[in-house]
Amino acid sequence: MRIRRRPWAEKELREANFYIDNPNIYKGNWKEKFINVNNPIHLEIGCGKGAFISELASRHKNINYIAADMIEAMLGLSKRNIEKCYNDKNEIIDNLFLIRMNAERILDVFSNDDCIDRIYINFCNPWPRPKHKKRRLTHIRQLENYKTFLNKANGTIYFKTDDTDLFNESIEYFKNANFKIINMTNDLHNNLIFEDIRTEHENMFSEEGIAIKALIAQIII
Ligand SMILES: C[S@@+](CC[C@H](N)C(=O)[O-])C[C@H]1O[C@@H](n2cnc3c(N)ncnc32)[C@H](O)[C@@H]1O
Repeated sequence: MRIRRRPWAEKELREANFYIDNPNIYKGNWKEKFINVNNPIHLEIGCGKGAFISELASRHKNINYIAADMIEAMLGLSKRNIEKCYNDKNEIIDNLFLIRMNAERILDVFSNDDCIDRIYINFCNPWPRPKHKKRRLTHIRQLENYKTFLNKANGTIYFKTDDTDLFNESIEYFKNANFKIINMTNDLHNNLIFEDIRTEHENMFSEEGIAIKALIAQIII
């Protein structure tokens, strides 16, 4: 996704106490970063402008959230959306961290000790050309990485996309990486298989009349 630079983003992010620019230093110790250390941790990879995570995390104060993106302008917009969403609800941002992370290097940031319960991947870049497919956030190469730090008992990945080829090929990636698809739909808005909180891309595609494909995959030990 192309996005123009936001000159204010760097300063605002630096000043936000829920933003982490160098998340590698917390590898293996994410639980202790949160006030409620015993709450489960859910991670969103590629959070974009943050509409989804801000609504989700402010609704579920009994879950700890980490939202990651690698583009500064996206992180800046996310930061503003998170603040607005929590402020509107008179909530304190104490169950969410926003981090700068390239998913290609996710194992520098999370380890087995972090025991993440759920990963959200929403409308990741489809990378349609065969030579680029391994960059997909749902590619088997990435799924193998996620298995390192997902809760081995019942860790799940919630995935939604507009892209039929990406969806169908991701189903194969999940199966080949030893995940079980526990629920899926080719039309999420007419068959809700999980909480209906929409992302920026989800709104855009559904306004164009494109059905949203979604699945929940669970790790098999
Ligand atoms: C198409 S946008 C979708 C944004 C949002 N999830 C939504 O549904 O509206 C993809 C997002 O993933 C981020 N992204 C792409 N590759 C990434 C990577 N390797 N690591 C982290 N974020 C990535 C992009 O910066 C962008 O914000």
